[in-house]
Amino acid sequence: MKSEALKIGIFDSGLGGLTVVQSMMQHIKGAKLFYVADTKHAPYGEKTPEQILQFSLALTHYFIENHQIDALVIACNTATSAAIATLREKFPKLIIVGTEPAIKPAIKQSTTGHIGVLATPATLKGDKYQNLVDRLSTQKEVRLYEQACPGLVEHIENNTLQSPESLTLLERWLAPMREANVDTIVLGCTHYPLAKEVIKEVMQREVVLIDSGDAIAKRVLDLSRKEGFQNQGSASVKLLTTGPIDKQIVNYLVNEPIETIVL
Ligand code: DGL
Repeated sequence: MKSEALKIGIFDSGLGGLTVVQSMMQHIKGAKLFYVADTKHAPYGEKTPEQILQFSLALTHYFIENHQIDALVIACNTATSAAIATLREKFPKLIIVGTEPAIKPAIKQSTTGHIGVLATPATLKGDKYQNLVDRLSTQKEVRLYEQACPGLVEHIENNTLQSPESLTLLERWLAPMREANVDTIVLGCTHYPLAKEVIKEVMQREVVLIDSGDAIAKRVLDLSRKEGFQNQGSASVKLLTTGPIDKQIVNYLVNEPIETIVL
C-alpha cells in the first residue's frame, strides 16, 4: 500500500471537464486533483487531430513537471480520440484514463433501440468512435442517430444556451431524434451534461441522457487501487485555466478559486 496521495491531472478545453471532476470528487477519496481548462485553445472539437494532440502533449508535460502526477484523466472525448494512443506510448508509467461516448450503457438501457449520440465534429469523425460503434452495435438490434453539434460548446462556455440561436440549433439537431422515437441520448462531449435541461426541454418527451463521468471515476479508482493507492480521506482540487472562463459557472460546478496559467 502507498501512503502518499494519488495525484491526478485532468484536462479539457473548458468547463466540460468539471462535470468529470464532480464525479471524481464523489468517488475518489484522498486524491489531489489538478484540473486545467484549456480555454486558450477551445473549442477542441473544431480543430485538427494534430492540433489537439499538441495541446494534449503540452498539458501532460505541464502536469508532470509542475504537479508530479501519477494519473492523467483526459476529461474530453475529442482529445481522447486524437491523443490517447500517443500519450500512452510516450508516458508508459502514467495511469491514463480517457473519455468515450457512453454507447455501451445506452444500448443496455434503451427500450426502443433508437439511440441519439451528440458529440463534437472531431469525435464523430475519429476512427476511435467508429471502432467503438463497430464493436458494440453487433450486440443488440440498435439504430444510432449521430449528430455533430458545432457551436454548442461555445454556447455552454458563454452561458447563452437559452439564446434564440442556441435553441434554433438544438431544435434542428434534436427534431430528427424526437421523430425517430429515440429514448436515450448519449452525451458524447463532457460539456453537454451542462446542457441537460435545455436538451430535455427541446426534446419535449421522456428521454434518458447518459454521460461518462461516473464510469471514468470508477475506472481511475480501479486502476489506482491496483497500483497500491488507498482511497481514504478527503480529496482536494486545484483549478487552473489557460484563458478566459466564466468564473460564476466554474464556482457553481466546483466551488474553488481558479488561477490562470501560461502554457
Ligand atoms: N468537452 C470536450 C469533449 O468532451 C470538447 C469540447 C470542445 O472543445 O469542442 O469532447
